[in-house]
Amino acid sequence: MRIMTRLCTSIDGYVTTPQGWPAQLADPDFSPETYGFVDFQQRVSAVLMGRATFEPALGSERWPWQDLGVFVLGSHRPEGTPDHVVVDSDPTRLLEQMRAAHPDGDVHLVGGPRTVETFRALGALDQLGLIVVPRLLGGGTQLTPAVQTDTGLKLSHHNALPNGAVELVYDIEKSA
Ligand SMILES: NC(=O)c1ccc[n+]([C@@H]2O[C@H](COP(=O)([O-])OP(=O)(O)OC[C@H]3O[C@@H](n4cnc5c(N)ncnc54)[C@H](OP(=O)(O)O)[C@@H]3O)[C@@H](O)[C@H]2O)c1
Repeated sequence: MRIMTRLCTSIDGYVTTPQGWPAQLADPDFSPETYGFVDFQQRVSAVLMGRATFEPALGSERWPWQDLGVFVLGSHRPEGTPDHVVVDSDPTRLLEQMRAAHPDGDVHLVGGPRTVETFRALGALDQLGLIVVPRLLGGGTQLTPAVQTDTGLKLSHHNALPNGAVELVYDIEKSA
């Protein structure tokens, strides 16, 4: 099981807009298809995210993770959470539950920065994938300081998307 992100970041390095929305929502051309999320999620078995990232999905018209296992790191189960979603406050226990349910599948770690750092610090993050949104935002949340700056990164691949966004995927170098 590999755990991989595809975090969207603006050209000036913000993963959220100044109002706290994911950076890709600042792009009028954004869609899960144009940003490669539909293809990517066909290659994974489950999604993993922090409670702050999960909660807004509960109000969306369409459930974003059809057919995928959903694992949420959080101290409580938000109201309206579907029964099949696993919520746990302990990241190690959540990892064990993901491994048991999806031993052969990969996991899309959706975010946000605090949850990315939690699994990176446990040595469980395999790939830091970014999608550079062709926009300048001027403010918002950055990956740092949540994610440690001594994270070792080795370029795996890059890919220009049709709408001007660019996918950059780095393997996390793990210490022996
Ligand atoms: N650009 C993108 O691609 C992208 C993707 C996802 C999210 N985002 C943005 O990121 C922002 C949210 O990021 P975030 O870092 O603030 O929040 P987050 O990682 O989504 O969720 C944080 C919550 O996860 C739980 N958590 C995290 N680490 C934990 C640990 N070590 N132990 C126990 N629980 C832990 C806690 O839940 P409890 O409070 O319940 O204890 C914490 O409040 C939002 O603005 C969202 O729009 C952007």
